[in-house]
Amino acid sequence: MEIIIQPDQLQASEVAARIVARTVREKPHAVLGLATGNTPLQLYRNLVRMHREEGLDFSGVTSFNLDEYVGIPPAHPLSYHSYMWAQLFSGINMPKERINIPDGMTPDIPAACRKYEQAIRSAGGIDIQVLGIGTNGHIGFNEPSSSLSSRTRIKTLTEQTRADSSAVFGGAESVPHHVITMGLGTIMDSRLCLLLAFGRKKARAVAQAVEGPITAMVPGSILQMHPRSILVADREAASELKMADYYVWVNDHKPDWQKY
Ligand code: GLP
Repeated sequence: MEIIIQPDQLQASEVAARIVARTVREKPHAVLGLATGNTPLQLYRNLVRMHREEGLDFSGVTSFNLDEYVGIPPAHPLSYHSYMWAQLFSGINMPKERINIPDGMTPDIPAACRKYEQAIRSAGGIDIQVLGIGTNGHIGFNEPSSSLSSRTRIKTLTEQTRADSSAVFGGAESVPHHVITMGLGTIMDSRLCLLLAFGRKKARAVAQAVEGPITAMVPGSILQMHPRSILVADREAASELKMADYYVWVNDHKPDWQKY
């Protein structure tokens, strides 16, 4: 895994935006895999700025979001649909018909999940998948014990994840129990995985995912098996990495052609 440690979230999100923008410039019909939560907020602000100021063009781009809450309608303010439109889609020129987000209200979840997988395949596969990490090591909503080769499906959230989302929902009891999420196998099929992590509370999950054993108990650890995964973290999220000094040295001494 390539590990890029930056002093803070702002600088890390600049690097992340350059990585995403490079994919879009090199491949105008790129397929982006997108995440929600607090982690990618600054990345999305940067992409909106790059669209406005540098003409970064999303007109040929397709996107697939990782996950959505079951039972939350797209128009609900706490749906991931609403999040994505507020944080990114309203500020860039990606055509509406190329935006894909799992439908939490679908009457037939298994059929909708199969269709979602098929749509990703038809689009040519995901070129770059943006990921955050849960405090328990989940990516997407693949909670600990998820099959390492799982596909898009319904999952049940752990109490820890529901507690982590309680502030947004105004209390843990209001956080849905069920979600639709791309599987770990779906994520692993992406050509590039871009994992972002910020803040002290992610340090343990990051250390386990990057330097620990590959295990379904830390779903993010499957990224160690990916031929091209990049972690961009701030110092706090990287604070439990045993080889942090080495990663920093490697990054500081990259030849120009390897820099983002
Ligand atoms: C949720 C999302 C994940 C996200 C994770 C971390 O569970 N489904 O995609 O990475 O939370 O959230 P945050 O970025 O808010 O810390």
